[in-house]
Amino acid sequence: MAKIKIGIVGCGFIANRKHLPMLMQHQDVEVVAFCDIIRERAEASCKQYGIADAKVYEDYREVIGRKDIDVVHVCTPNSSHAEISVAALQGGKHVMCEKPMAKTVQRLKLC
Ligand SMILES: NC(=O)c1ccc[n+]([C@@H]2O[C@H](COP(=O)([O-])OP(=O)(O)OC[C@H]3O[C@@H](n4cnc5c(N)ncnc54)[C@H](O)[C@@H]3O)[C@@H](O)[C@H]2O)c1
Repeated sequence: MAKIKIGIVGCGFIANRKHLPMLMQHQDVEVVAFCDIIRERAEASCKQYGIADAKVYEDYREVIGRKDIDVVHVCTPNSSHAEISVAALQGGKHVMCEKPMAKTVQRLKLC
């Protein structure tokens, strides 16, 4: 069976301390994309947790644009959760969004 392909957006504390270690415990998933506006953070996470041909990005839209990715983990600061999550859902991805989903109801409606 093909593995579930994951893209991580936001490679800070919660991604490295919780999401990625937990994902490593599942044999049926692989993390294929790492995105952070600070490229070095994405590179460090990719080196530690990525499969051999995992890629690094600075723009989350490139992760969403990859047809092979099944799930996007949104691990950015609160203010960008709604924008990235809605874009990923509109791109046909499953989304694992860190809390809170949005800072205001208006923010969700704007997306
Ligand atoms: N579930 C929990 O118990 C728990 C605990 C801590 C934090 N959190 C949540 O996790 C989220 C992240 O918190 P953190 O402590 O990991 O913060 P962090 O600052 O350590 O990491 C966030 C990362 O996202 C990157 N980033 C910011 N905007 C981006 C964008 N548009 N695209 C790509 N990358 C971007 C930053 O450069 C940074 O590396 C927050 O929403 C926070 O509320 C949840």
